[in-house]
Amino acid sequence: MEYSGTWKEIWTQKGAMEGTKEDIRIYDGWEKSTADMEETAAKIIKLLDIKSTDRVLEVGCGAGGLAQYMKCQYVGIDFSETLVKRCMEFFQKSAVLSEANDIPFKDQYFDKCFSWGCFLYFPDWEYTTQVIREIKRVTKQGIFIGELPKESHDSKHQLYREEQFQDLEFKTEKGWSEPYCDIRFNAIMLNK
Ligand SMILES: C[S@@+](CC[C@H](N)C(=O)[O-])C[C@H]1O[C@@H](n2cnc3c(N)ncnc32)[C@H](O)[C@@H]1O
Repeated sequence: MEYSGTWKEIWTQKGAMEGTKEDIRIYDGWEKSTADMEETAAKIIKLLDIKSTDRVLEVGCGAGGLAQYMKCQYVGIDFSETLVKRCMEFFQKSAVLSEANDIPFKDQYFDKCFSWGCFLYFPDWEYTTQVIREIKRVTKQGIFIGELPKESHDSKHQLYREEQFQDLEFKTEKGWSEPYCDIRFNAIMLNK
């Protein structure tokens, strides 16, 4: 299927596709990745030490590809109304329609926050810094931002440099998933 328009329109069209939770990799844009969703979720859980009692926010939750493996007090936000509905319908996870730069939760509501494969769709660095400010405001402890692209096949993706995140006191590491390990990185802040 061909998608067009703004990223918000594209992700809304994706969520409207006919399908079931078996199609989760398509809904969540994992078609080109060889990574395993469950393994990726397990790595995030380990890295942030997510416990069943933790309140955890995912920014850009999509249809719930990672949410399905979160055994905690999970809430996802996403700006695609259709994907938010899928996340609730497929995996019975809490999901809220929201732009990433205006998170509708009070200060320090969450213990931990993660985002995977979402920051590349932000329009510019100013928007990204607003998102980081919001994530820091609503999160008490660890933050993990995965799949930040340094290069991309798609000129519409926002690209990042590791120094931009290091300047904001994140540690950075090489990307986890082939074929993107060398051209994507992750940003981590374990004790904010
Ligand atoms: C590649 S999908 C990843 C979904 C999920 N995190 C996963 O890994 O399975 C990216 C998601 O980010 C969402 N997204 C992109 N830009 C956003 C924004 N500005 N605010 C909220 N959600 C956004 C999209 O709607 C889409 O669901």
